Amino acid sequence: MSWFTKASETSVGKKGIMAVTGTVLVLFITVHMLGNTHLWEGDKENGLKAMDFYGRFLRTFPGVLWAFRSVMLVTALLHVITGVRLWLENRRARPIGYAHMSTVKASLASRTMIYTGVIVMTFIVYHILHLTLGKTGPFTEGRVFDNVVRGFQVSVISALYIVGQVLLFFHLTHGIPSLFQTLGFNHPKYKATVERAGLGLALVICGINILFPVSVLLGWVKLG
Ligand code: HEM
Repeated sequence: MSWFTKASETSVGKKGIMAVTGTVLVLFITVHMLGNTHLWEGDKENGLKAMDFYGRFLRTFPGVLWAFRSVMLVTALLHVITGVRLWLENRRARPIGYAHMSTVKASLASRTMIYTGVIVMTFIVYHILHLTLGKTGPFTEGRVFDNVVRGFQVSVISALYIVGQVLLFFHLTHGIPSLFQTLGFNHPKYKATVERAGLGLALVICGINILFPVSVLLGWVKLG
């Protein structure tokens, strides 16, 4: 048995996997959100928008893009599988449930991690079908700006993105402080600061992500 398989059989090992994969996912979401702010740069050159150039840049080195995609896929799968295993383990350890929920200190966000996590992952699958593979709505290969704007002009699609971000927000408000704690940043003196930082980062990521569909729905960002 490799050290990794052995570690993933223990609770501490599983929490470590959740923290490391969670950190990689948070970094990705932050950089992705920053990249998507190109939506608000209207510049056009040869009929292309700033966001199209960004999409084109990502494809300049296909080998690098596919290596990156593979790492992200393995990271996301490890996060989901280990999260479900931890949840099942906790349920088995507490088969009857609590008689008095009021005695349980855990926050709503922490108790619903499995549900918000499953919904966010479903959102990501939908999102890739929508904007990377073009299977669920208006789509033209290479026209990243048009694909995003034409998608968000459909209110149901915008609503799905906004709901996805609200759930991501709840997942991150517990997830970010937890990963800090698991990675050793767990002195009681820093607890409040770490919780505030988690809340702040979740608010910035999800707030800006919500502004993308909102700016299209309000007509601030248009085709053409
Ligand atoms: C409203 C917010 C968002 C917008 C406008 C947006 C936009 C995009 C666009 C345009 C693409 C396709 C890029 C391309 O093919 O060049 C994409 C891909 C992707 N997005 Fe998002 N995104 C948003 C939120 C998110 C969130 C919250 C996550 C993760 C939690 C996420 C994860 C991904 C992933 C995994 C891909 C596939 C990357 C690839 O093609 O390799 N996105 N997004």
